[in-house]
Amino acid sequence: MDIHHPDLHPLFAEHMATLTQRSDAALAKAGFDHLLIPAGNLHYQFLDDRDYPFCVNPQFKHWLPVTNAPGSWLVYTPGRKPKLVFLQPADYWHVVPEAPAGYWVEHFDIIIIREAEEALAHLPKDTDRCAIIGETGSALGPVVPNNPQAVIDHLHYHRMCKTAYELAMMRVASKIGARAHRAAEAAFRNGASEFDIHMAYLASARQTEHELPYSNIICLNEHAAVLHYHSLQHAPPAHRHSFLIDAGASFHGYASDITRTHSADTGDAFQGLINDMDAMQQHLCARVRAGQDYAALHVDTHRLLGGILKQHGFIRMSAESAVEAGVTSTFFPHGLGHPIGLQVHDVAAFAADESGKSIARPDGHPYLRMTRTLEPGAVVTIEPGLYFIDMLLAKLKDDTALAREIDWQRVDAFRKFGGIRIEDDVVCTEGEPENLTRDAFAAVGQR
Ligand code: GLY
Ligand code: MN
Ligand code: MN
Repeated sequence: MDIHHPDLHPLFAEHMATLTQRSDAALAKAGFDHLLIPAGNLHYQFLDDRDYPFCVNPQFKHWLPVTNAPGSWLVYTPGRKPKLVFLQPADYWHVVPEAPAGYWVEHFDIIIIREAEEALAHLPKDTDRCAIIGETGSALGPVVPNNPQAVIDHLHYHRMCKTAYELAMMRVASKIGARAHRAAEAAFRNGASEFDIHMAYLASARQTEHELPYSNIICLNEHAAVLHYHSLQHAPPAHRHSFLIDAGASFHGYASDITRTHSADTGDAFQGLINDMDAMQQHLCARVRAGQDYAALHVDTHRLLGGILKQHGFIRMSAESAVEAGVTSTFFPHGLGHPIGLQVHDVAAFAADESGKSIARPDGHPYLRMTRTLEPGAVVTIEPGLYFIDMLLAKLKDDTALAREIDWQRVDAFRKFGGIRIEDDVVCTEGEPENLTRDAFAAVGQR
């Protein structure tokens, strides 16, 4: 979808109407007259002139699809057209940010500046009437981010529910990711190393590492047991058993977050386990419905996983006893998922309401990333896993009573596969959920 696509004009107009409405309410509630959002500044390495990759303020990219705009500002005063103070420095060392263009520009009064300090002249003078949302390093003279909690709480709470424009961006991010996942799987089947699979992914996505919404997790064999594995071996392993890839893509500031697990031998017992995990994951995706308590869905996942552990001969105890005794947590030690959007782990995942009240995690689930109740427009990941993690298995073995309930021979036989995670991004609607990831894989075809 290119930036001149005619369908984006009405979608973006509606997106802006929603943002201004939410901002009006947040400012009124907290007693401010203006909303100021700095895009952020470049950060430099200690005692060096090398800058870190620029990461735009997510609040800024909510308003416009511009992610490379250090030194720029968004100014919104209720009732007025939003103003973009856009820094395009006179610089012959670097490529300067492109001049604003596309479906979104008509919604802003755009002022081009050449020096960061010039922004001051275009920002409201009464800074104490301004809600200024940005990191400390974005301060410009007297304009210092104050990050009023009431404004942030309100904006974050409502950000969970995506506009039609945002969903359109996320569908594209999902398709880019799905296509690159196909390329990565092909590289795996051809015997590539983790490093080469990673490069195949980037080439297919046509995104640099920095453009991705998070660092790729690319694991062969037992590396899949490391939840955030980033070590990328350059040489392929002597034997290939399994491949777990957790990799997303970005589009106009929006993320996709996709995990797939493949067996080298699609006729083996590990593939059988993948198939059952996939069926369970699809069942969970189908339960992304308005009114569903996300924490309850996570707890149900443990019950279902207990059934899979029993069925595949890893445990001797019942599924219910495995959940009760915490045995399922040995095999599934992370949360079911999280909201996703402008950030891969999007905000307000625990919010009870728009005023900052939060919902605690259920006892015994310290890594759950979301407890909120689903509403139409919410986009969440559903990413159950089943892993063979030496450290956690050793702890289980130390518990003599529980250790008797485990078939260690069966468990040991699966350690070489590392584990399984299957992750889709799913939209809660008024009715049937929309699975962005499955739709994207269907759209991009086999290769
Ligand atoms: N890729 C990080 C996550 O799945 O949450
Ligand atoms: Mn995720
Ligand atoms: Mn992921």
